[in-house]
Amino acid sequence: MALPAQVRLVEVGPRDGLQNEKTIVPTAAKIELIDRLSATGLRSIEATSFVSPKWVPQLADAADVYAAIGRKPGVRYPVLVPNEQGYDRARAVGAEEVAVFTAASEAFNQKNINASIDESIERFRPVLERALADGVRVRGYVSTVLGCPYQGDVPVADVVRVASRLHALGCYEISLGDTIGVGTPAKAAAMLRAVAAEVPMPALAVHFHDTYGQALANILACLEEGVAVVDAAVSGTGGCPYAKGASGNVASEDVVYMLQGMGIETGIDLAALSDTGRWLAALLGHDTGSKVTKARSAT
Ligand code: HMG
Ligand code: MG
Repeated sequence: MALPAQVRLVEVGPRDGLQNEKTIVPTAAKIELIDRLSATGLRSIEATSFVSPKWVPQLADAADVYAAIGRKPGVRYPVLVPNEQGYDRARAVGAEEVAVFTAASEAFNQKNINASIDESIERFRPVLERALADGVRVRGYVSTVLGCPYQGDVPVADVVRVASRLHALGCYEISLGDTIGVGTPAKAAAMLRAVAAEVPMPALAVHFHDTYGQALANILACLEEGVAVVDAAVSGTGGCPYAKGASGNVASEDVVYMLQGMGIETGIDLAALSDTGRWLAALLGHDTGSKVTKARSAT
């Protein structure tokens, strides 16, 4: 299979990254982060999350952040919503794209959103109905596609079933999440291939956490299967608060470096992205999770 000529990166740092950082980033800094990211050439930036602030206090200021960012024409700013209450909050500040989320593992869903897979889908079914009527695009996430911190192995058939349901409900894109970063390339490719037999490849994205250092290898294996949308977080921040042991997302800088080196177009200015990653790491008071940003800082 030929590699895609272009890849769209979905930058999830302001949401998936910051939701799991110990430091609660001030609202003004979150806004600056998104504005900086908007200037790098990224076309999709997941800005924040309208979940319960009791569950994720790091993003309790979602409305203030979303209302203040400079929304650049041509850039999409999806926000995470778990239910209609989240959808109402997101729409009140003018969100034009939302993301709903569930998992391929029942055990993980209970911890993450206090619902079974079926219940979670029932919760966001009205979100999808309203969004489609409102002209709002909906992205869907399936978590724990290559393993679950509670259940262990996750059958590929469960991933296929959940991804197909999200697609049938109207999600334009389904992001397949290795939430705890346990996947390896052959398994990642096989999982993607199985999903792509039911959901068209152009409607699929991959989302890797780098817990075991496998994320770039997994992404490459999935590019070879034909996926052309990749989620990543600048500076490799984050994880999932309800996935014990999950480390950061793959760093966006590292993905862009790899893609550029392979002649795959992203439209992203690596130097600007890397500068943003360095700035964010300083703000969070820890080392950047991006090898590329580290190497660039050292030279
Ligand atoms: P619950 O407690 O079961 O729900 O939470 P509830 O409906 O009984 O509501 C409880 C309280 O929350 C009520 O307030 C509601 O009003 C309020 P109270 O009466 O107690 O004062 N509430 C809300 N407030 C604001 N915004 C809302 C909202 N909904 C209810 N939208 C719920 C259920 C889903 C809300 C909760 O479990 C939750 O918010 N979970 C979020 C967990 C989360 O954000 N996890 C991380 C994101 S997923 C992820 O990171 C994985 C991903 O990156 C992909 C991958 O890596 O695999 C996407
Ligand atoms: Mg994630």
